[in-house]
Amino acid sequence: MTESWVNSAERIGADLHLELSGPGGRRAALIRALRDAVRGGRLAPGTRLPPYRSLAADLGVARNTVADAYAELVAEGWLTARQGSGTRVADRAEPLRHAERVPIKAPPRARGPRHDLRQGAPDASAFPRAAWLASYRRALQQAPNEVFGPGDPAGRRELREALTEYLARARGVRTEPGRIVVCSGFAHALRLLFGGGVLRGPVAVEAYGLAFHRELLQTAGARTVPLPLDDDGARVDLLARERAVLLTPAHQFPTGGPLHAERRAAAVDWARARGGVVLEDDYDGEFRYDRKPVGAVQGLDPERVIHIGSVSKSLSPALRLGWMVLPERYVGAVLEAKGEREGWASVLDQLSLADFIVSGSYDRHVRRMRQRYRSRRDRLVAALAEHVPHIEVTGVAAGLHAVLRLPPGTERSAVKAATWQGVALDGLAEFRHPETDMPAADGLVVGYATPSEHAYGAALDALCGVLPSADRTPVAGLSRSRNPVTESTYDRNMTHACHVGQQKWDP
Ligand SMILES: Cc1ncc(COP(=O)(O)O)c(C=O)c1O
Repeated sequence: MTESWVNSAERIGADLHLELSGPGGRRAALIRALRDAVRGGRLAPGTRLPPYRSLAADLGVARNTVADAYAELVAEGWLTARQGSGTRVADRAEPLRHAERVPIKAPPRARGPRHDLRQGAPDASAFPRAAWLASYRRALQQAPNEVFGPGDPAGRRELREALTEYLARARGVRTEPGRIVVCSGFAHALRLLFGGGVLRGPVAVEAYGLAFHRELLQTAGARTVPLPLDDDGARVDLLARERAVLLTPAHQFPTGGPLHAERRAAAVDWARARGGVVLEDDYDGEFRYDRKPVGAVQGLDPERVIHIGSVSKSLSPALRLGWMVLPERYVGAVLEAKGEREGWASVLDQLSLADFIVSGSYDRHVRRMRQRYRSRRDRLVAALAEHVPHIEVTGVAAGLHAVLRLPPGTERSAVKAATWQGVALDGLAEFRHPETDMPAADGLVVGYATPSEHAYGAALDALCGVLPSADRTPVAGLSRSRNPVTESTYDRNMTHACHVGQQKWDP
């Protein structure tokens, strides 16, 4: 029996596995194998077959055996042979009789919501295709051959150097390339750190946060302990015997405020005193609108903070590219957890991102998107002020989502009403740690980045249409601060961000 992969794209355009077996010698076996390949649809009509010599060499048979097999199949009508265009699969070679055909059903198309206002994704229509392509092309042209071998688990040096400069300039991160490990995003970083045995729990987390991240930690065996939130962010003063604390200091996810400067310092002090570590999730740190950028907590003490970022909000979650900026003592363990070679982040994408950053395209893209999201945020705030002025909107000074505060007990019905009208969004309850004893806050988390530009207006109209009106649902005690959002409105919102009715989140 001879088995072979006929694998030159130039010759037949695709890999073809031919198995020469059964009675009657090689010629008969080859005829059967080719006929089966055409009949079964593995060789599509029009496909060019390899020249006799190449196929003979691949299969280890005589050239004449291949020539005879082709001639037989041409005679049977499975193949055609024309001067100058070689031997091809006949256009009307029917792979199967009609009755035998297995109907291939198109998979049902997942129908998304009519208006997608879920938080989490940037505007997919704004991916900078041309600039990314230019970076990819340059990266490919300039890449030395070793790039196409196994990748270094730390990530490409070019990217780590570009990130060192960019993160220092844009986020106030203090590091060097040797302390950066490239990964495929924040979730991957958590898996490496906790699943890879670098860190252990228990981990303090914000009482409102992404359930997916809590689940990742729990799956890795790290218990999560909820920290209540108040006007100044997470109550890091309540940190005790945990080994690590996971924070979103630039923009609390999902409620939206920055962690107060004193709390930032207190978190680092706790880590120093207890030998703990602060995990800084800098998921959308580039997108601040109304205030001076909030720098990274990592800048306060690079030996006590693991700073984690990714391109999921700034470029696309599809790229699966992120980075960890590590205290020196964790670098070796993280690399060990990653394994001998890069298994997650495509090396070519790493080089493209390095070029994208160094060439200034990343800054240009972030600036452009900041303007776009800011204008969407303004439109959201203005539409709410006009149609449902009794509903307070908070967490709007940064990021890609806002929180609409609702009267106690109304969140579930508001989410249901929205779903019913084709508006997808989440309620705050989605993000609440199941073990927190903080009073629950009712609210809607509205992502304003996801719809494409042309769909955004209709999404806003639909949103305003499903929100409870003041007369339908009286709202007691909510701030009536009218928009637009200005620095002072922002400050007021921040002050009131954690009040619902007259109730403070942290009484
Ligand atoms: C709170 C939070 N952290 C981190 C991320 C980034 O996750 P990843 O890098 O795994 O895509 C997201 C989503 O983009 C997020 O919402």
